[in-house]
Amino acid sequence: MKKLIAIVLCVILTLTMAGCGTKGTPLKKLQKAGKLVIATSPDFPPFESLSGDGKVEGIEIDILEIVCKELGVTLEIQQMDFDSVLPGVQAGKYDMGVSGISVTEKRQKNVLFTEPYCLAAQAIVVKEGSPITGKADLTGKTVSVQTGTTAESFCMENGYTVNAYAANNDAQSAVLQGKVDAWVIDDLTAADMVKTYNAQGGDQLVILDEAMTTEPYAFAMAFGSEDTIAKINTILEGMLADGTIAEIFQKYEAPFTSPLKG
Ligand code: ARG
Repeated sequence: MKKLIAIVLCVILTLTMAGCGTKGTPLKKLQKAGKLVIATSPDFPPFESLSGDGKVEGIEIDILEIVCKELGVTLEIQQMDFDSVLPGVQAGKYDMGVSGISVTEKRQKNVLFTEPYCLAAQAIVVKEGSPITGKADLTGKTVSVQTGTTAESFCMENGYTVNAYAANNDAQSAVLQGKVDAWVIDDLTAADMVKTYNAQGGDQLVILDEAMTTEPYAFAMAFGSEDTIAKINTILEGMLADGTIAEIFQKYEAPFTSPLKG
């Protein structure tokens, strides 16, 4: 009898363990797959952009390389326009959206976000000599934005005439070519792109000194990834606390605003 009970227990144990192996939690599955597939729009320096040899580089890539190391997986990067990033994550095509994504209530209805790792704002960029000197002057004006961004919703909510472009560079060209009166874009990317552009000489772009929003940046995953997000949050918290994230911003000469209060 004892032998029979032992055999039955053994069988149950083996079956349970086999079950765990095939199903597992989302985090275990990810680690078993051995890679974190991220969706990104690499037209957003210093967070993600293409290097001379076509590799995606930037602050978020550096952060994710460390996160992946901690998770024991490799980083796989899929490139696309910004407005395809969140729908792709929601549909489960990619593990994570990494694109200087601002956390908004609307987006939180469709995807899960990690804890924010920095704060940003919307900025106004105009051509030197423009009569626009602040947000108040945008009333009745035409602005360029990138499609699907918080800049687009902000400008629409404020009643400006909005010209949306799939690629950030085209939103920049629109203001240079005088197709729009101003370009609305996140502050750190504005600073980076304007610096690069102005360094070429010629017409200069000016970033107006008026931050219009406060936007926490975080990484997005599909619903159901709660345990992976919890693990990644622990890693990000450590990187915020020990200054790793601040150092990465420094490497890209970008000012860092911590999302941590106090
Ligand atoms: N932070 C803004 C948003 O979440 C803009 C992000 C644009 N990102 C990009 N990689 N082009 O809507």
